[in-house]
Amino acid sequence: MKTAVIGIGYWGPNLIRNFLSSGSIEKVYVYDINPSRLDFIKRRFGEVIVAENEDSIFNNKEIDIVAIATPVDRHFNLAKRALEMNKHVWVEKPYTTSAEQAEILNNLAEEKGLNIFVDHTFIYTGAVRKMKELIDSGELGDILYFDSVRINLGLFQSDVNVIWDLAPHDLSIMFYLLNKKPTAISANGIANYYGHENVAHISVYFENNCFSHFHVNWTSPVKIRRMIVGGTKKMLVFDDMENSEKIKVYDSGIEMKEKEGIYNALVQYRIGDMYSPKLVQTEALTLGVEEFITSIKEKRKPLTNGDDGLNVVRILEASHKSIKQKGKLITL
Ligand SMILES: NC(=O)c1ccc[n+]([C@@H]2O[C@H](COP(=O)([O-])OP(=O)(O)OC[C@H]3O[C@@H](n4cnc5c(N)ncnc54)[C@H](O)[C@@H]3O)[C@@H](O)[C@H]2O)c1
Repeated sequence: MKTAVIGIGYWGPNLIRNFLSSGSIEKVYVYDINPSRLDFIKRRFGEVIVAENEDSIFNNKEIDIVAIATPVDRHFNLAKRALEMNKHVWVEKPYTTSAEQAEILNNLAEEKGLNIFVDHTFIYTGAVRKMKELIDSGELGDILYFDSVRINLGLFQSDVNVIWDLAPHDLSIMFYLLNKKPTAISANGIANYYGHENVAHISVYFENNCFSHFHVNWTSPVKIRRMIVGGTKKMLVFDDMENSEKIKVYDSGIEMKEKEGIYNALVQYRIGDMYSPKLVQTEALTLGVEEFITSIKEKRKPLTNGDDGLNVVRILEASHKSIKQKGKLITL
C-alpha cells in the first residue's frame, strides 16, 4: 500500500516513522503548507516523497491511505476530500470539530466502502489493553466509577480549549473500557489567559449509577496522568508517569452492612493485596498502523473507527455547551 501524511508538525513525523517501518507500506508521500517542515522531514527520512500540494495527493491514484495530522479545524475538509477521491483515511484526534462533521465523514466512508481510522492512540497501549482485559474478565466486578486526571504546564493551543486538546485521550479510554452509552454530562472550566479554557472538569453520567470524571489542565505545576477505575470487587490505578508498574490492581472494596434491627448503615472496608500486572511494551502507534492496515485488508472497521471518533466528539461538543452555561446538565 502507498500512504500520504498531511501535516508534519509535532505528531506527523511519528506517523511517518511508523508507516515507513510497516512491512505493508511501500511508499510514504508527505505534505505540509509550511515548506520548512518539508525540508525537515526530507532530511530526517530520505525515503519520503514530498508532494507539491494537497491536490497532487488526492489526485494520485496509487495512494491508498491519507493520514491527516493537521490542527483539528482542517480535519473535516481534508478527510472529506480524501474519501471523495477513494482513499482510506487516518484522522488524528479529536476527529472533527462537530458531531455533524463526524457523521458526514462516517456516512461517506460507509457509502464508498472505505475505512476511517481515528487515532485514539491510547487504546493501543499495553496499559489500556491490560485494563480492558481485567475489566472484561470480571476481575473488577461491576464498574462503579472512572476518574481521570491529565494535568501539567501544557502547550496552549490557539484553536481549541484544554478539553478538546487533552480529554479525547481519556474519553476514548473511557468508551473503550466501559463499553456503555453515556446519558448526560456536565462540565465546568475557566479561561484565565485568553478565550479558551485552560482548566476544566467534566462529569459523564451512565445508567445503573455509573459515573466518570475528567480533570484536564494546561496550567498545573505538576504533571499528573492518572486514572482510577473502581469496581465492586477490585479497583485499579493507571499512572502513566510511572516507568514500570503503570497499573496497580487493589483487592480493596467497601461493603455496606445494616446493623441488626436498626436501619443504620455500617461501612466495612476490605483492604487486601495489590499487584502490578506485566504490560506489553510495543509502541502504540506501531500497533495502530498495523490494525488500520489489517482492517483494510480484511474489509472490516478498525478498532478505533469513525463511530468511536463521533462518540468522543459528541462529549466534547456537549461539554462546550455545558461550560458556557456554568455546568448545566446536558442530556445526551
Ligand atoms: N494521537 C496523539 O497522541 C496525538 C498527539 C499530539 C497531537 N495529536 C493531534 O495531531 C494533530 C496535529 O497536532 P500537532 O501537535 O502535530 O500540531 P502542529 O501544529 O505541531 O502541526 C500541525 C502541522 O499541520 C500543518 N498544516 C496546517 N494546515 C495544513 C494544511 N491545510 N495542509 C497541510 N499541512 C497543514 C502545519 O503547518 C503544521 O506543520 C492534532 O489533531 C492533534 O490533536 C495527536
